[in-house]
Formats: sequence, structure tokens, C-alpha cells
Amino acid sequence: MRASLPTSSSSRTVTRPSRKFTVHAQQKRSLPAEPQTQACDDRVYSSPLPPKPPARPDPYTMLSSQLEHLRGTLLNLLGSSHPSLTEIAKYYFLHPSKQLRPLLVLLFSQATNGLGGNWHAKQWAAECEGAGGRTEELDRPLNRPDVLNDWNPSMPDYTASFQNSFSLRPPRPPSQPPLPPPPPRRDASPLAPTPCLLPTQMRLAQIVEMIHVASLLHDDVIDRSPLRRGVPSAPAAFGNKLSILAGDFLLGRTSAALSRLGDSEVVELIASIIANLVEGEILQLKSVHGDELGVAEAPSLGRDYLNVYLQKTYLKTASLMAKGARAAVVLGGCAEGEVWKEVAYAYGRNLGIAFQLVDDILDYEAGEATLGKPGGADLQLGLATGPALFAWEEHPEMGPLIKRKFEQEGDVELARDLVRRSSGLERTRDLARKHAEKAREVLALLPDSDAKSALEELTERVVKRTW
Ligand code: FPP
Ligand code: MG
Repeated sequence: MRASLPTSSSSRTVTRPSRKFTVHAQQKRSLPAEPQTQACDDRVYSSPLPPKPPARPDPYTMLSSQLEHLRGTLLNLLGSSHPSLTEIAKYYFLHPSKQLRPLLVLLFSQATNGLGGNWHAKQWAAECEGAGGRTEELDRPLNRPDVLNDWNPSMPDYTASFQNSFSLRPPRPPSQPPLPPPPPRRDASPLAPTPCLLPTQMRLAQIVEMIHVASLLHDDVIDRSPLRRGVPSAPAAFGNKLSILAGDFLLGRTSAALSRLGDSEVVELIASIIANLVEGEILQLKSVHGDELGVAEAPSLGRDYLNVYLQKTYLKTASLMAKGARAAVVLGGCAEGEVWKEVAYAYGRNLGIAFQLVDDILDYEAGEATLGKPGGADLQLGLATGPALFAWEEHPEMGPLIKRKFEQEGDVELARDLVRRSSGLERTRDLARKHAEKAREVLALLPDSDAKSALEELTERVVKRTW
């Protein structure tokens, strides 16, 4: 990290910020005006009705311009010297998702910026030329012509010729990073979030979406999905090989953008998400293709099976939300031992598990119009998710179906029927509610802000699925 605070008095002059980073300051308070009737109700003390809680901001409306900006500039990171690679790498971004993961990063940034002990240094790095945290510096071409060849037409730079052998180039003297100003006295910072977004946090929001899309490019090959978001999946449109390569390409661009954020704690967090996604996928594959992989484990009824399912759910879905949110708070200057990053992790982990549990319910309840792919896909893939596992506790006949991965004729229909005749869907929903409720509860540790209210709102929407 370039923006380290001076440890002793120094004779070097303190560099002043060259520019403010107000581009991504929070838009004006988006809470709708309190309805007149409600204000009146509050003053009628004899009324038996409790006052209505104030309406929460709509998370997507609150950050719509930032999300739009992120989507537009993200495409600039994906150019390559091979037009077909560029096309497929951009493919899923052109059919936009809910952008839930970037939304979490942005909301946690807004809810916690200004609270951490290192906020001052992070804010300084976002304003001061040469400190590495300004948008222009994050947007610099990712290649050094004397070391790498990574041609991106959206970020033009030299492209070394391969016609000749490569000559050594004398190194340029390193430029001195500017010295940050001394930290403010701790009691000078008020315990209230600063509703702005740092350029590093905006880039992080893009990074988490790029990792998500890379995992989908690989997942659609593994699952042989014909559709994604109602359009042909990448493997259906471009073939398996290009889909895998495009996913790898996205991870390559992600790694370069990640290192430029200049925070090793964030690099570790985000790198571990990629490992978790693969571990989650393997855990899921093990339950279906264990024999072929040589790691078959006989399923047995009980809490263990549910625990493995929830562990897989964390690894495949919740890890990205939990660690993405935590990384946002670290980039906002949360110091070691402060609670803010723990809140982000606990929230993201609980919200992510609730999100996936509801997804698993929808796979039984919803049709193609809602899902953008045929319903019942999990059973077709041989997967027993929450509803089937809970149904198994009430209908032992489910056991053999799970063991043979719903492979025999009529298995999928029978399993759906057993789920329907059980409390499987209800119990999965209860579990999702429990996790969503916990996510809301941990937010109590944060000071009040619009961003905190929007995060609370998400905990309700994740269960109701009203995006
Ligand atoms: C969608 O699950 C897939 C994931 C959440 C993660 C998939 C992870 C991998 C394939 C490991 C490789 C990871 C990287 C980063 C290259 P789903 O099939 O349940 O949902 P769907 O219905 O949207 O396909
Ligand atoms: Mg899939």
C-alpha cells in the first residue's frame, strides 16, 4: 500500500491532494418524503395504531447511476487482441444481471466509509496524485510494454513487436510516492459514515461481478445449460472451449485489476473467493459424480447431509457476497480489530445463504418465465437441495432417489411429488428467513444511514424475491 502513514516526523513536505473524488458521492437522500398522513398519525398520541416505520430507500434506485456507470466502464477492462475472446468475455455483461454483488459492495462502502481507523489514509490516496487510489491511476493500461504484452484496444498502449528478439531496457528511476499528511486526532472523526465511494471501491464492485461471471461461464459448461437469463448460454452460443477460456481470461483481468487496488488484505480475500467457488463446485460434483471422481460418499440421512449442503451453499454463493462486502470495508480503511468488516462478512454470509436457499425453492416453484431457464433443473442435474433434503426426513423413499441421483425414469417426477407432500419447501424458506433475519440483526452495529436502511431492505427482498 502506497499510502502508509508516516511513523516519525519527516522533513519531506506533505503532498496535498490534487483533486477531490466527488464523482461518486452519494446522490441526494433518496428517501421518499414522509406522507402527510403518516406525519399526522405520529402526532395523534391517542391513536391505537403504532406509527409506521419510515419507508426504506430502494437499494437499486439509490445506486442506479453508479451501477450503470460500473457496467459501462467494466466493458473497457475486457478488450483483447482476439475479437472472439472479447465478444464472449463481454457476452454475459450485455444481458445484465441483478448486479446484487456490486450492489452489496457499494452499499457497505457507503454504510462504513469514515468509520475505520485508516479512513483518512484511504481518502487521501483517493485524492492525491501518485498515491495510487485515483480513478485515473486505477484505469491506467494494465500492461508495461517492457514486461507484458496484454493488448486491450480500449486501453491503448505500446504493443511490443515479436518480430525481433527482445532487448533489455534500462529501468526508469522509481518515482517517489507522495507522503501522506499526518493522521487526524482519533477523536476528531465523528462516528458517522461518509456517504461517498472511493474509486478503489467502485473497481472492487466490478471485480466481484467479473468473478461471478467467470464462474457462470464455467458453470454453464459443467451444467450443460442451454439458457442463461432467457438467452442461449455462452457454451450454447460459442462452444465449451471458448466459454472456459473466456472465464479464465476474465480471471486474468480481474487479478491485474485487483493487485492495482494496492491492498494485500483485499487481494487475499478476493483470491480466496475464487478458491471457494471451485471448492463449492467440487463439493457439489462429489455428490453427483463422486464415483467418476473417485470420491464417492454414500449419502446418509441426518443433519450432516444438511450441513454439507449449507457448506456448499456458502462456498458457491455466499463467500463472494461475504468476502466482497468485507473487502469493500477494508478498502474504506477499517483497521485490524475494528468491528466494521466483521459486520460486512456476517451480513454477506447470511444474506448469501438466504439468497441461495430461495433460489433452490424457486427451482421447484417457478417456471422458465421467472428463472430464464427451465424449472426443475437441479433434480435433472442429480442435485438434492434443501427442499429434497427436508422432504427426505419425512419420506424415507426419497433416500434411494437421492442415492441414484434421480436417474431412473420417473425419479424426477416422484421426487417433486414427495417434496410437494412434505414441508420441504416451507422448512427451506424458514431457514432462508432465519439467515436473512440474522443479516438484518448484525446491521444494528452500524450507525444509521440510507445505505444501512437499503441493506436492511435487501434482507426482506432476498426472501420475497422482489427486486
Ligand atoms: C451457479 O450455480 C454457479 C456458481 C454459483 C459457481 C460455479 C463455480 C465454478 C464453476 C467454479 C469455477 C469458478 C471460477 C471463478 C472460474 P447454479 O448452477 O446452481 O446456478 P445457475 O442455475 O445460475 O446455473
Ligand atoms: Mg448452473
